Amino acid sequence: MTVEKAHSLAKAMLSDGRFYHTECVARCAKELAVRLGADPEQAEIAAFLHDIMKEQSDAVLLKTLEGSAIIKDNYFSEYRSLWHAFAGAVYVRKELGLSQEIADAVFYHTSGRAGMTPLEKSVFLADYISDDRTFEGSAEVREIARKDIDLAVATALQKMIGHLVSQGRIVQPLSLEAYNYYINRMKD
Ligand SMILES: [Fe+2]
Ligand SMILES: [Fe+2]
Repeated sequence: MTVEKAHSLAKAMLSDGRFYHTECVARCAKELAVRLGADPEQAEIAAFLHDIMKEQSDAVLLKTLEGSAIIKDNYFSEYRSLWHAFAGAVYVRKELGLSQEIADAVFYHTSGRAGMTPLEKSVFLADYISDDRTFEGSAEVREIARKDIDLAVATALQKMIGHLVSQGRIVQPLSLEAYNYYINRMKD
């Protein structure tokens, strides 16, 4: 898989608006990967594919996830916003035959996880602070990321979980574990 191929796949499978977001994430993930010592091309490929299943129907996502361990999660139905990440990981691994590392970067791009690899962290944070993002907190996290990537990750998780809790929504344990992990690191 080349960056060009990932770019054209995303363009073919996504609406213009979603593709624009994807391009912004790819540019940002590449920059973060350089700073984190990850392979910038792998980060760009993972970023171009991170939302590849974003516009698929529930039926397609569920079909893609058939047999995946994540479906057995007690609250699986509550995590509708994460389905595209989980299904995207299956798609890039099984349909495109890409590496587990890239599949993991897609899988964890919305939830995050404790101890993210530099590649995973590049895509996770880029999805939060890419140029097109304007939601509350994105500008603040973008500013923090200029100096301290891990603090930016911790702050993004804090804001994301705070937002879910304020709406009375369920928080995926991966995000809670990620939050604990990165907040704890800030104390060292
Ligand atoms: Fe996404
Ligand atoms: Fe995204």
